[in-house]
Amino acid sequence: MKLKLFSAMTALLGLSSCMQMEPPQQVDFVTEVKPLLETRCLECHQHQYVCAGLNLETRKLAMKGGRSGAVIIPGSPHQSLLYKVLLLGHESPVAMPPTPEGMEQEGAQLLHDWIQQGATWPENTRLVPPQEWKKKHS
Ligand code: HEC
Repeated sequence: MKLKLFSAMTALLGLSSCMQMEPPQQVDFVTEVKPLLETRCLECHQHQYVCAGLNLETRKLAMKGGRSGAVIIPGSPHQSLLYKVLLLGHESPVAMPPTPEGMEQEGAQLLHDWIQQGATWPENTRLVPPQEWKKKHS
């Protein structure tokens, strides 16, 4: 009985054979991407310590990229080195972040969606390296 009611309802809603997929959530740079990059990447990609020539402190510097050129291609996460390095295994010296834990699935997904959605980064939003938060709190 319950099942019948359910199929009647889904038929009514037009969901019987085509599930409507939720579009990916719009990623918010300031509340989601910024803290992730600051905690996981800024330690080594900022003005005092610029690994591989890549400084991620400002939109302008991040878009300029590193020694390999651009690392963020808005709309194309799979062509963006910033995302690709997260998928590398530990046998690669360029797997990022280079910590043993690597990046969690959710973090990688977040950066993927952010790049796919155009990699918006408000012009005046500057990321703060962990070295500088420590200074502020001591
Ligand atoms: C502990 C320091 C450290 C952290 C943290 C770190 N990186 Fe790196 N990153 C490096 C080093 C060192 C290299 C150069 C690796 C090599 O080629 O051997 C590099 C290279 C890169 C490159 C290649 C740049 C180019 O132009 O070739 C990208 C992209 C990158 N990192 C992104 C990230 C991202 C995204 C994060 C955070 C998820 C991150 N890194 C966290 C040290 C770090």
